[in-house]
Amino acid sequence: MRPPIDSGTVLITGACSRIGRELARQLARRARTLVLVAHQKEPLEELRDELLASNPTLGVAVEKCDLSHPDEVDALLDSLHRHLIQVDVLVNNAEQGEFGLYEQQRWPHIHQMLRANVSAPMLLTHRLLRRMVERGRGGILNIGSGGGRLYIPGMAVYAGTRHFLEGFTESLRLELVGTGVVVTRVEPGPVAVDAHAPPSWMSISAVRCAREALEGFERASPLVYPGLAYRWMMRLVSLMPRPLMRATGMMAAKKLRQGTALLEERGQRVLLAGGPEALSR
Ligand SMILES: NC(=O)c1ccc[n+]([C@@H]2O[C@H](COP(=O)([O-])OP(=O)(O)OC[C@H]3O[C@@H](n4cnc5c(N)ncnc54)[C@H](OP(=O)(O)O)[C@@H]3O)[C@@H](O)[C@H]2O)c1
Repeated sequence: MRPPIDSGTVLITGACSRIGRELARQLARRARTLVLVAHQKEPLEELRDELLASNPTLGVAVEKCDLSHPDEVDALLDSLHRHLIQVDVLVNNAEQGEFGLYEQQRWPHIHQMLRANVSAPMLLTHRLLRRMVERGRGGILNIGSGGGRLYIPGMAVYAGTRHFLEGFTESLRLELVGTGVVVTRVEPGPVAVDAHAPPSWMSISAVRCAREALEGFERASPLVYPGLAYRWMMRLVSLMPRPLMRATGMMAAKKLRQGTALLEERGQRVLLAGGPEALSR
């Protein structure tokens, strides 16, 4: 069973970011229509123009939507309905992250991350899935993170929301066996900021990440770890006993708290928006 990408309609959240943008570029060669969703309209419109220039028969809808607001998600779905756009494949790729000790993070921002990383993919899936099941064809591609396998001090919210995606996607996949709907989760590791950057031993380009994600999705794989070295590392991590994972995390947590105390002494705050990749900026 393959997800209905060819001549289908694919909705991608976070479409103007690294991985989302590359997914859009690769899907544009095959899909009939792409629905590109993100916070900001301008980068989406630029991407639309680029995609149309190389794929003149493609249909592209640009939808500006703050996924952390359920009302805006509803408005997005209403807009699709009004324009008679029926989504065959949903790619939940958007994500918000912040680095810092949990007690120092602001609740409104934590809540926003929860809504963007947990509620939005659940709501979109809920609203679009029933029609897929009725039609006997569809696909859900959830882009999570290797962070969904780890315990990460300083990224409790991010890691928590990525762990959520594992339980949700795997359980949903089981529910949908035999319905014609393919469900795949991708857990990327480090992805280079520049889409065409030469790969390091672990980090891969967004182009490769998107390509391997789509290849896994087409094989109906339950889980894809893009990149060879990273894939093997994650396989080893999966075998790691939890006490060992906790002990490793403990060391990182100690350093984080010491570092935070040091920065506080200097009057600086350790809060970094942008998820784990922000650490390398
Ligand atoms: N890059 C990596 O190294 C890496 C590693 C592991 C996992 N991942 C996963 O891969 C996925 C994509 O990551 P990325 O690094 O390519 O993306 P990114 O550069 O972090 O950009 C995130 C994307 O999500 C959109 N977004 C975030 N919050 C949103 C909201 N509330 N409403 C609407 N759109 C929102 C952003 O739109 P705007 O730009 O318009 O705000 C942007 O397009 C994420 O799920 C991430 O967890 C990435």
